Amino acid sequence: MEDKKKAAIANDPKKVFGRSPDQHILNVVRESCQEAFNLPSFETTLQTIKSHFFDRNYDAVFQNPAHLPVYSARYAPSRALCYYHLFLDHPVLMKTLEGPSTILCIGSGAGSELAGISAAMVHANPVLKVKKVKKSADKEKSIKGAAKAEVQVEVQAEAGAEEMSKDTSDTKDNDTNGAAEDTTLGMEKLTVTSSEPTQEQSAEASAAAVTKTKPKKPKANKHQVTVVMQDYVDWSRILEPMETVIRSRMVLGPERLQCETEIGNVLDLSDSLLERVAKADLITFMFVLNELFQDKKRTMLLVSKIVAAMPSGAHMLVADSAGSFSNLKVGERTYMVYMLLDHLKSLEIVYQDDATWYRCPPSLTYPLKLENMRHFVRIYKKL
Ligand SMILES: C[S@@+](CC[C@H](N)C(=O)[O-])C[C@H]1O[C@@H](n2cnc3c(N)ncnc32)[C@H](O)[C@@H]1O
Repeated sequence: MEDKKKAAIANDPKKVFGRSPDQHILNVVRESCQEAFNLPSFETTLQTIKSHFFDRNYDAVFQNPAHLPVYSARYAPSRALCYYHLFLDHPVLMKTLEGPSTILCIGSGAGSELAGISAAMVHANPVLKVKKVKKSADKEKSIKGAAKAEVQVEVQAEAGAEEMSKDTSDTKDNDTNGAAEDTTLGMEKLTVTSSEPTQEQSAEASAAAVTKTKPKKPKANKHQVTVVMQDYVDWSRILEPMETVIRSRMVLGPERLQCETEIGNVLDLSDSLLERVAKADLITFMFVLNELFQDKKRTMLLVSKIVAAMPSGAHMLVADSAGSFSNLKVGERTYMVYMLLDHLKSLEIVYQDDATWYRCPPSLTYPLKLENMRHFVRIYKKL
């Protein structure tokens, strides 16, 4: 098999997901939430959560640590699927997943964003770019051996060969439809056989590799996507196992996916939050904005400060209920929360949909009923 094909295996969606990406994502969430499913009090806790939602008492939902695993197990699966498809549908979002980039996800402790974005990352395959690097390298005939060595270094950096083969060895016994075995095989062969230069080329290559490998080191992270999960409660009990499962089942090593958390009330507008905003390529508000608007004054201030701190060219993704939950009463009039953002002069609307459905395909299996989601979507660009 050619080098480029072997390299591509690591991030080949078919190899990673098997036949059904959606089912694979659900399996990842289910495995991450195993602790919750084992709770004898699962059903009663879920009823308590639902009644707090009904009363719009969001603090009562999220400020009780006992609720968090149950909340994730119930709400993260369909949201993760919805966000996965949302990213796939929008090239501007997929572009951020090629890296290097930072995605700041406000109110994302429950893990839906982590699962959905990570799954979409598998499709944002930077390894394919190796093809171009190889072609141009091959043109340099006088440094043939060196070029091969360079491609090999490039391929390893792109695919994170070491991480991948380590990660996939964990997945062999699990539900990846045989993909893990192929992937490991591919990556092992990649490092061993990607160049077989002649003796002369070998000498040139090793000299060139020594000199070329060092300055190339930063390139190992050139496709790294940092996902910052911001939330006002500590969801590490959910996010840590989920990250482990994602790394293993979606074959995403730390050179590709970096996970960070930021704990604090977003409405406090801390310096550290604004620093994160200033560095972000994409900021997401997924099913959190209407909750925040319970405190209109502070949320208006939050929005204006965040938009001011966003770098020019950065994007903001907002999705939330398309129903009355997203109503915002100002004086005698009622608006949808996105209307406030739509009118901000420094934001350009890149995409808008006031009401769309994400419907979970009936063929999918999960221990709980999956929820179809009617929601609005906005993608803005900071001018
Ligand atoms: C309805 S959940 C949505 C979770 C997630 N974004 C999703 O789509 O599944 C709202 C999330 O926002 C968090 N949250 C609520 N108020 C917040 C605040 N003031 N600051 C930061 N996070 C907050 C909650 O802890 C919870 O994780």
